[in-house]
Amino acid sequence: MKIAVAKGDGIGPEIMEAVLKIFKANKVPLEYEFVDIGKWVFDKGFSNGMTPEAKQVIETVGILFKGPMETPKGKGVKSINVTARKTWNTYANNRVFQTLHGVDTVFSKAGILIDITVVRENIEDTYGGVEHMQTHDVALSRRFITRPGSLQLIRYAFEMAKKKNAKRVTCSHKANIMKITDGLFLDCFYEVAKEYPELKSDDVIVDDLCMKLVTRPDTFDVVVLTNLQGDIVSDLCAGLVGGLGFAPSANIGDHICIFEAVHGTAPDIAGKNIANPTALLLSGIAMLRHLGFMENAAIIENALLYSLENGVHTGDFGNKNYPSVNTTQFADSVISNFGKIPAQGAKPILPNMPATPTNFKLEKNPMLVSKEMEEEKIVGVDMFIESAEQPLMIAKKCERHAGVKFKLLSISNRGTQVWPTGSVYTNLVNQYNARFESLDGEPLNQQDIIGLYVSLSGNFKICSLELLNTWGDIRAYSLAQGQ
Ligand code: NAI
Repeated sequence: MKIAVAKGDGIGPEIMEAVLKIFKANKVPLEYEFVDIGKWVFDKGFSNGMTPEAKQVIETVGILFKGPMETPKGKGVKSINVTARKTWNTYANNRVFQTLHGVDTVFSKAGILIDITVVRENIEDTYGGVEHMQTHDVALSRRFITRPGSLQLIRYAFEMAKKKNAKRVTCSHKANIMKITDGLFLDCFYEVAKEYPELKSDDVIVDDLCMKLVTRPDTFDVVVLTNLQGDIVSDLCAGLVGGLGFAPSANIGDHICIFEAVHGTAPDIAGKNIANPTALLLSGIAMLRHLGFMENAAIIENALLYSLENGVHTGDFGNKNYPSVNTTQFADSVISNFGKIPAQGAKPILPNMPATPTNFKLEKNPMLVSKEMEEEKIVGVDMFIESAEQPLMIAKKCERHAGVKFKLLSISNRGTQVWPTGSVYTNLVNQYNARFESLDGEPLNQQDIIGLYVSLSGNFKICSLELLNTWGDIRAYSLAQGQ
């Protein structure tokens, strides 16, 4: 079976070499096609950081095993890591954080064993990177949480939890504040949870989760989160088990999967052959299991755990009373321990399963739609306008433009209502949301909205607008704070 390998930048080539050496010694039945992705590809003038040949190989073989990659700073280019995840729809980011015997942490010393899998949404949220300066003072980032995207991710989390015999799947969110976006994610969670009655499902607000993770991390099993919250929580979990050097990551899609360490290129230690290859090795082991090479995965993982348990360590962790080994020596130690079983956390050696070929050709992009259209009515519009005037003055001007179709309902600033009621203590920035509703309660159409836009633009710069829709009894927009 063939997979694509990108060695990466900084410490990438050193740790990749160590991992492939271990695979070779264990006769892992994989062929490698090395592809050109990374900083030096940007430098050669490929604006997305990968050559067309690399893209073609990855799309043909379906699996990319990659080292960390550097995104050049200040050149206006997007992160190669995020581009790869988004282009190939690797919608679920699976990160396993386990107590590793031999890697001392405050929890391992207290006898608290951790085994948490964080499933993070990988494509949506603010990571769409759709951002605009609305005024010189006000930046806007669009946060996309979609129903099909959330369902796809959450279903993966439950399936994965079932396969690994997990007991509990927890959804973490901030739906108490972001009622529409995180509210949608939470609704999707409980919708999917119904299909898995054998698993305990519950939810926790993300700030509460962080507190609970640092006090009782052993109470969590599988945790599923949106992109940004998942990114932050997974680094927190890495800290619980000894740091980024022990954090593997699998980016799972229906057609293409990317396996990589969570850490970056570590430029401070690059080229010295002292980096810790554990996180990349754990990512490689997850890849072997994904491909059905269970026996290879278990032998290598047991050898790694045995080495750690016996105090083998690179300079970034472990007992400083014992000398550290370099990257190559670490790999050699794992190889020399093939067949040994660690005293703690040993993995069962299951026979290899036949690997499924992943080659595919998509005829067209599938459109992800999960819900039939319900009756939709436009009942108003939010006009985001630039102004440095006080709310009362803005209201007077807006009311002049409301005409026979609209009435001005409210004005808010950064989400807090400042007209018709509000507080003089609310700080203002130079962008307001003037919310207009239908004057007679009758539904509006897009021409009505454009009419209002044209009229209002006589007085204000309109930065953006959002339609206010209802679906039957459901209001598809949020209220301003204090409305
Ligand atoms: P980093 O993870 O590269 O380094 C943070 C600290 O951890 C450094 O002190 C480093 O020496 C240490 N460290 C990281 N991995 C280690 C390992 N395997 N063994 C021993 N020590 C290790 O994070 P930083 O410095 O913020 O980012 C450096 C570059 O990496 C940036 O260009 C960033 O964009 C890129 N990056 C790439 C990622 C990827 O390809 N998935 C992920 C994160 C960052």
